[in-house]
Amino acid sequence: MSTEGENPIEKKIIVTEDGPYFVLGGLLLVHKMQVVSEYGEPLAWKTEGARELGECYVLCRCGNSHEKPFCDGTHCKVEFDGRETADTRPKAERQVVLPGSEKIIVRRDESLCSKSGFCGNRLATIDQLVLGADDPNLRSQVIAMVERCPSGALTYALEAGGEQIEPDLPRQVAMYLCRQLTDLSLPKIGLLFGSRDHTTVLHGVNTVHRLIQTDRALFDQVTALLQSLRTP
Ligand code: SF4
Ligand code: FES
Repeated sequence: MSTEGENPIEKKIIVTEDGPYFVLGGLLLVHKMQVVSEYGEPLAWKTEGARELGECYVLCRCGNSHEKPFCDGTHCKVEFDGRETADTRPKAERQVVLPGSEKIIVRRDESLCSKSGFCGNRLATIDQLVLGADDPNLRSQVIAMVERCPSGALTYALEAGGEQIEPDLPRQVAMYLCRQLTDLSLPKIGLLFGSRDHTTVLHGVNTVHRLIQTDRALFDQVTALLQSLRTP
């Protein structure tokens, strides 16, 4: 660990050739668990805790370690081939449009999917819900599923040719609340959220404003948050 007077190690993650990730600079390791319903349906992510592991630690990239998430050297025994295999075509070429309603256009980029299962429940998959998404209730379920997709595989637009919305909802809701509850300018709010550009803040605020027109559950959540934060 660096001591006072020493130059801190730059925070970065190094991908080694056919080997693990080197994590430098004292980055916290956050443990997240899926929250599931009584039927085993994924509902949300819960942060279980963050560990300080010092200035440098090494994470498995090959998937074969017996001490995951840390590397235990097994990548050498299995002769891990870490060469890039990702689909590098432009996103627009990788995406397919799910057939269904014209009121919401959902696109899926299968190459990004991490199989976390948020895009379905015990009654229906997102593909089935999109077919009936002229119904506002089904449409709000589709939007909620896209927003919970952790990999960025799903996007939606509210009209053909419209802007594709990717999930970044929790931070966008926080930006929206800042805008509603304070006199801070867009650039100042951007600074509070890790030096984000004012256009990113504006996009976040506008996204939440638009979503709460159609997503009843989100409207209720945002309203409750506003009320509780306004209560002295
Ligand atoms: S599309 Fe998203 S929500 Fe669905 S399984 Fe893949 S990562 Fe999970
Ligand atoms: S990268 Fe070392 S064990 Fe997986």
